[in-house]
Amino acid sequence: MNLLNKIIVKIVELLPKKIVKIFAQKYIAGEEITDAINLVKSLNAKGILATVDVLGEAIKNKDEAENAFRQCMSVYDAIEENNLKANLSIKPTQLGLGIDEDFAYGLISTLAKRAKEMNNFLRIDMENSPYTDLTFRLYNKLRSEFNGSVGVVVQAYLKRTFDDVIELTKSDSNFRLCKGIYVEPASIAYKDRQQIRDNFIKVLRYLLENNVYVGIATHDDYLISESYNLIKELNIPTDRFEFQMLLGVREDLRDKINRDGYKIRIYVPFGKDWYAYSIRRLKENNRIAGYIFANLFSFKKQIR
Ligand code: FDA
Repeated sequence: MNLLNKIIVKIVELLPKKIVKIFAQKYIAGEEITDAINLVKSLNAKGILATVDVLGEAIKNKDEAENAFRQCMSVYDAIEENNLKANLSIKPTQLGLGIDEDFAYGLISTLAKRAKEMNNFLRIDMENSPYTDLTFRLYNKLRSEFNGSVGVVVQAYLKRTFDDVIELTKSDSNFRLCKGIYVEPASIAYKDRQQIRDNFIKVLRYLLENNVYVGIATHDDYLISESYNLIKELNIPTDRFEFQMLLGVREDLRDKINRDGYKIRIYVPFGKDWYAYSIRRLKENNRIAGYIFANLFSFKKQIR
């Protein structure tokens, strides 16, 4: 962690939760599932899709995993009851992947089954590198049983990703492609901003050329513009990809992509764990500290 990040984390930890909430609420739907439902409804009204995420990760025991599982199931119930244009994203360690692989498979496959039955979808987020192989193994098992209803995430910062994609696309696949948010060692991950972008575009080109469905998850103007170029160059039909963004980030860009007639899906996190989640994210990735800094600055400008 660099010095600026350390200082920002300390400041944020000292602030009352109520104040932190002012900044966090831009990025999180709220604590309750009804908050997420209302937010998704407002996105859907603008023609924007959503993927809902129950906040939490790396749980410590099976009870916590089962609790997360029940909340995930209630997201599918809410999607069905409210006819939402949304699906579900999960973090495998939140459902126990870090403590018992078979147990986690039991819970996650039940979610995938529910998704398949209601013609919906389950996206498996990718966490830090100790879980990469385990997550792909999980995905391989799930897609053989629930083909068409599950997808995984690949991270452009990992040097292994292009090879992983070649291997995984030997069977029917569905990816979200992102840069990657965790701090990984230079031995396995690109550190240079442009190298990560180049790998992102290399992987994207491979997926689009091979007719593999991809969620292009980025807020980076450069990557969005390069993606537009690739889509035009390869003449890719609009039902073979979608753009994806995080709630509260670059809404100008989100609306532009929507106006341009491309599918756009917003990642909508909700849950009681919002405070711990925000602090963890802040400690993990010093770029987020920079975003908070910029956000604090724009907040100051707003109240002037
Ligand atoms: P970059 O970091 O360069 O951001 C471009 C601009 O966007 C910034 O200058 C800033 O203005 C804005 N911005 C980006 N992130 C912001 C934030 N958090 N807060 C405020 N402003 C922000 N990662 C992962 O490892 N596993 C996963 O499963 C996922 N899943 C995922 C889903 C979706 C829908 C998205 C959009 C992203 C993820 N990610 C992820 C995170 C991803 O790997 C990456 O860390 C972030 O998207 C930031 O990278 P950008 O490509 O946006 O570029």
